[in-house]
Amino acid sequence: MSRPLKLRVRGVSVSYAVDGQARRVLAPVDFDCHEGEVLCLLGPTGCGKSTLLHVIGGFLKPTEGEVLIDGQPVTRPDPRRILVTQERGVFPWLTVEENIGFGLADRPEAQRRERVAHYLKLVGLEGSARAYPAELSGGMKQRLEVARALAVHPDMLLLDEAFSALDAITRYTLRQELLRLWTAEKKTVVLVTHDLDEALQLADRVLVLSAPPGRLQRSLDIALPHPRDITSPEYLQHHRQLLDELGLAHRI
Ligand SMILES: Nc1ncnc2c1ncn2[C@@H]1O[C@H](COP(=O)(O)OP(=O)(O)O)[C@@H](O)[C@H]1O
Ligand SMILES: [Mg+2]
Repeated sequence: MSRPLKLRVRGVSVSYAVDGQARRVLAPVDFDCHEGEVLCLLGPTGCGKSTLLHVIGGFLKPTEGEVLIDGQPVTRPDPRRILVTQERGVFPWLTVEENIGFGLADRPEAQRRERVAHYLKLVGLEGSARAYPAELSGGMKQRLEVARALAVHPDMLLLDEAFSALDAITRYTLRQELLRLWTAEKKTVVLVTHDLDEALQLADRVLVLSAPPGRLQRSLDIALPHPRDITSPEYLQHHRQLLDELGLAHRI
């Protein structure tokens, strides 16, 4: 790939102290991600996916190794890379538009207004600008999360199972929306999931992590154009390959 390197993960491992003992949850992992790439980290629960994403975001210091973004070591969180999780939640005491504008408090009023209007429209929440999060459905709230993250113009988006609490139909719709946004804005995306369909629908490359303590088991390029036909033989072949990697049966 000719695009410049955005992210380099070098020998990153994490151990947590449990009952006074160091317990390794992530074996040393090494990988790169190019600018504008959608990279997916896929693996079973507990293999260290969230841990790894927190290290990339600068929220957690690795036990060993380092993360470089644009060639600079990551030492702390930075608004240029935004982490979207399902637990984090929007601010319930702010309206939809106030939530989107929250990260723009230091910008001139006119720019803030313009950004808020742009992202409201992009995620289809124009009709709910003055609503409070409690009045929104789960899918709308998650779209609000994404809008709020994008509004600060991060150059990296870190998504941690951002859609997994949603029902299947909303999840499917949001993936399409994320791809539409991604096509419009070309962010570098690192996406964590345990859902192999999510990985196959969104990613340019899937890194499969092993059972805990997670190590990189496999890197799979998904060279299928968007929109992806999830019934095509190529898609199904990748699907089968990921089932194999995860040790899952083809028939249930
Ligand atoms: N702060 C912490 N202290 C101790 N153990 C933790 C901490 N955070 C996560 N863990 C443990 O580390 C392992 C990996 O967690 P996590 O990165 O959340 O995995 P995943 O996102 O792949 O499900 C799990 O066994 C989890 O219980
Ligand atoms: Mg997790």
